[in-house]
Amino acid sequence: MTRKRALVLGDLPGNGLARLRQHCRVTVRSGVTRSEEELAELISGYHGLLTLLTQPVGERVFAAGESLEIVANCAVGLDNVDLAAAAQYGVVITHTPDVLTQDTADLTWGLIVAVLRGIVSADRFLRRGDFHGWEPKLLLGRSLQSVTLGVVGAGRIGQAVLARAQAFGMPTIYTKRSRLSSERELQLATEWCAFPELLGRSDVVTLHVSLDKESQHLFDEATLRQMRPGSYLINTARGPLVDEVALARLLQEGHLAGAGLDVYEHEPQVHPGLVDLDNVVLLPHIGSATLETRERMADCCFDDLTTMLVRGQIPRRVAPATFTYGPRREDDD
Ligand code: GLV
Repeated sequence: MTRKRALVLGDLPGNGLARLRQHCRVTVRSGVTRSEEELAELISGYHGLLTLLTQPVGERVFAAGESLEIVANCAVGLDNVDLAAAAQYGVVITHTPDVLTQDTADLTWGLIVAVLRGIVSADRFLRRGDFHGWEPKLLLGRSLQSVTLGVVGAGRIGQAVLARAQAFGMPTIYTKRSRLSSERELQLATEWCAFPELLGRSDVVTLHVSLDKESQHLFDEATLRQMRPGSYLINTARGPLVDEVALARLLQEGHLAGAGLDVYEHEPQVHPGLVDLDNVVLLPHIGSATLETRERMADCCFDDLTTMLVRGQIPRRVAPATFTYGPRREDDD
């Protein structure tokens, strides 16, 4: 039987590639993000594609990929893939939920603590040689137990963030289109409220919604202004959820006290107005970046390609059918 062909767009950890190579003819092209047109030119003749979240996969790719059966996206977010077009061309899309939930929630808390306690600016302060001894008013942050955390989107990662709040003694509220069960709310010691109410009640707002047309700029200038004066924004989900120009302005004006960002509107570019601010912690999209998780994510993708191309079965982590993507899925990731 002729072996099927897979195109892998990335240099991934672990031995999944070697496993796939036992059954498929694999081409690896890593190092650059291609435009959709460039990918469309490459894709003909491949049955499987493994993509990174930076790679747009749209209608043109599916149209040009006459043999394409599966795209395994090495991310939980699927905003880089046109799911409606995939459904139209009958291509199965898989992603990597669950395996990155805990590490992304940890990093979110890393940012919350870093921003509220000024950890990064304090480190810069010391390295500049400005530390001349303990002082009662030196670098005062905010006490985690005395502020409220508002979680926008309580899917897997949002819930993992809520669970950790209890260890910090930080009160939480959350918003989500479909409310969690009362048992789950009790377990997470949290309370549902509508989005505008959450903005008005939270001292720290953290985003855990997926990106699509409806959630793009969910945090525009108007929404950011509805946040409490002196509050903080944390984003480890997707950059375009936030209007970065407006965010920089509100931080500069002092309406917001700080922000912790792992994702950006036009990655890898960061709005220059944010780079100049000392009360903003900026990370290079490393939410799931641990040895263990990145290897698990790669394994998910290689296993899904094998399941589909070698065993002829639909993988378990298939993206929800396109028809469920109508109105914004608010939980994501
Ligand atoms: C990372 O951002 C992911 O979606 O997995």
